[in-house]
Amino acid sequence: MTTPDAIPATTGASVTDPTRASSSDRRDDTTAPLVDLRGIRKSYGAVDVLRGVDLTLARGEVLGLVGDNGAGKSTLMKVLAGSVQHDGGAIRIKGEEVRFHSPSDAQARDIGIVYQDLALCDSLNVAANLFLGREPRVGPFLRIGRMHEEATSVLREFGVRVTSTHQLISQLSGGQRQSVAIARAASVDPDILILDEPTAALAVTEVESVLRLIKEVAARGVGVILITHRLQDLFRVCDRITVMYEGRSVDDARIDDLTIESLVGMITREGSAAA
Ligand SMILES: Nc1ncnc2c1ncn2[C@@H]1O[C@H](COP(=O)(O)OP(=O)(O)OP(=O)(O)O)[C@@H](O)[C@H]1O
Ligand SMILES: [Mg+2]
Repeated sequence: MTTPDAIPATTGASVTDPTRASSSDRRDDTTAPLVDLRGIRKSYGAVDVLRGVDLTLARGEVLGLVGDNGAGKSTLMKVLAGSVQHDGGAIRIKGEEVRFHSPSDAQARDIGIVYQDLALCDSLNVAANLFLGREPRVGPFLRIGRMHEEATSVLREFGVRVTSTHQLISQLSGGQRQSVAIARAASVDPDILILDEPTAALAVTEVESVLRLIKEVAARGVGVILITHRLQDLFRVCDRITVMYEGRSVDDARIDDLTIESLVGMITREGSAAA
């Protein structure tokens, strides 16, 4: 008897690793927000860094997350990306309450992040960075040619221009690096993409290409959270703004209802009881 014949060809049931199940495998509540954070708290010792933050994100929405230096924006996004564990409050992803213990838990929920301190490997080339940790292989062997072909197609898909996928990251401009980092995060097909100050160090044309990339990603239905101090960028790409102040979410508004002046007022709490 040959073993394969003894095994039913298909049972109709698929075996999935629950930690890697894609959104299509899960029974998501499609009416619920992609992200719903309620009363998120985080302390480091005696310092209360997050003191009750609410935030929601819908599919295809670009949400600007703003606030002064030290307001807690990066910490909040690290909580959502699983690299910092919160002390209180609830995280709901597509209606389901979750608790992340590591970045891979968040990745399994299709959440991608490009951190403020960009984590690309300077000494590796563009293709190797795009596929870091998930390089195409045959057995133990890297498929270098295949990796460069796929890298070229990912960059083309997201409109990112580099001279060659063989270029070292250290040879790229700041804008090209940011674009490669965003393309890497977007290429794994996340539902939620967090970008922490992606345009902070960029020249005008480089900012333009990163903003174009953000719009392109959102147009695919991805929910994007954009942290930036460049308020003019928010008016170019965002649908809505959440404002943080000293560890709390203090305002939430549609961008169409705001001006630069009113947004600055919200961030600095001018004229409010908290100022
Ligand atoms: N690991 C840590 N240990 C202790 N304090 C921390 C830690 N990480 C962040 N903090 C503190 O938490 C506060 C919020 O920091 P966070 O980086 O979230 O601010 P931010 O809003 O992203 O600011 P910026 O706009 O400057 O990037 C700061 O006062 C910071 O010093
Ligand atoms: Mg920050």
